[in-house]
Amino acid sequence: MKVITVGLLGLGTVGGGTVNVLKHNAEEISRRCGYQIRVGHASARDITKARICDTSDIQLTTDPAAVVTHPDVDVVVELIGGDTLALEMVLLAIEHGKHVVTANKALIARHGSRIFAAASERGVMVAYEAAVAGGIPIIKALREGLAGNRIEWLAGIINGTGNFILTEMREKGRDFADVLREAQQLGYAEADPTFDVEGIDAAHKLTILASIAFGIPLSFSSVNTEGITKITREDVRNAEELGYRIKHLGIARRTDAGIELRVHPTLIPATQLIANVNGVMNAVLVKGSAVGPTLYYGAGAGSNATASAVVADIIDVARALNVPAELRIPALGFQPQELANTTLLPMDAVESYYYLRMAVTDERGVLAAITKILGDNDISIEALIQKAHPEGELTTPLVMLTHKVLEGAMNRAIAEIERLPSIHGQVLRIRTEPLQ
Ligand code: NDP
Ligand code: HSE
Repeated sequence: MKVITVGLLGLGTVGGGTVNVLKHNAEEISRRCGYQIRVGHASARDITKARICDTSDIQLTTDPAAVVTHPDVDVVVELIGGDTLALEMVLLAIEHGKHVVTANKALIARHGSRIFAAASERGVMVAYEAAVAGGIPIIKALREGLAGNRIEWLAGIINGTGNFILTEMREKGRDFADVLREAQQLGYAEADPTFDVEGIDAAHKLTILASIAFGIPLSFSSVNTEGITKITREDVRNAEELGYRIKHLGIARRTDAGIELRVHPTLIPATQLIANVNGVMNAVLVKGSAVGPTLYYGAGAGSNATASAVVADIIDVARALNVPAELRIPALGFQPQELANTTLLPMDAVESYYYLRMAVTDERGVLAAITKILGDNDISIEALIQKAHPEGELTTPLVMLTHKVLEGAMNRAIAEIERLPSIHGQVLRIRTEPLQ
């Protein structure tokens, strides 16, 4: 049987998992693709470090360029992360006519257009299934399985670390920082975990999903991004009381005016399947014009789960080796010249329902003043909870759900409410999505 030699850049959580999955499932993989796939060369910062995989039959180096340019290497698998060295190595691989597999969403979201153009010119493939939602084959589902549809919208829990934190806060009342530390130990978090908790990682992934769903250029800077750091255990409990769960969602929606791209904590009705996706699991809900809503679920991070997607890409490359470049599946699912510069909507033009939480002085007329401001901005209230005045505290928490309103109107109303003398601190707002 013919052999394909992989050059692996990175032997950490995903790199180690990739070696393990290739080894454990070697026979099944060969039966599927008709090649024996072996990792011949690998690089890491410290090649003396103990690894989660057996590296005894791999030639190790600290120099990733030596792996990329080694004449035996057919496919370069980039699992370093970041977009400096990783970008340099991916472009070097393409320049040397090597196919590339990567799990690096930051790289694809920020530099994908340049990378795909270089790959297309050189006639090589760049595969990136593991870059979105870990082990869930969502790229393949969108690019191939749903290719007959006009995608109307998609919404997903696409950061495992964030979902793990929100789940542990809700189920066990655990502290944010403590759960984040555990996610880091489990290998779920990014090298810089602010990418996870501030929504940047999810924004990278949404950029990629939106591009494939709507056939638009990768537009990372247009994603409105909000993380989960302002969510308290109190919000998690309030949401529960109102019949909702708080999830960190990436949402891409086609409207008549343009495309919405946003990542933020969201209240979802507790009865929705996606509201019950917990821990490190991810899920993406996609609404296609022909098929209707479809849901994809699985592990969003972790060694073997992510390696499952990396290995699937290596197999795809092997299978396509003898297919002419023009007949292969385009990197973003649409022919490159067909990517359309559709209007991307500013956040002010996005319509949403809202959960609002504020701390008010418990005195006559406060509620009337707040409801007047909301009314003046055309915002109507759907539900309201005023908790009993906590003993020894100066303020009382006031929580409300609104009907649908433009973000711009909500911003104006919140600014006015925050100026009321009876309001203490900032008004916390979480958008609410019925996901219908
Ligand atoms: P790790 O930090 O676990 O591994 C990174 C690897 O790259 C390490 O082996 C490290 O070497 C090596 N490396 C880092 N810097 C250099 C350098 N300057 N020169 C040579 N080698 C270097 O990261 P992950 O495996 O978690 O992530 C890899 C990629 O996969 C990232 O793009 C990430 O976003 C993505 N991803 C991660 C998932 C996960 O669950 N962890 C899920 C989906 C995608 P050494 O070990 O010696 O330090
Ligand atoms: N840090 C990422 C997450 C890894 O937690 O989802 C998977 O992309």
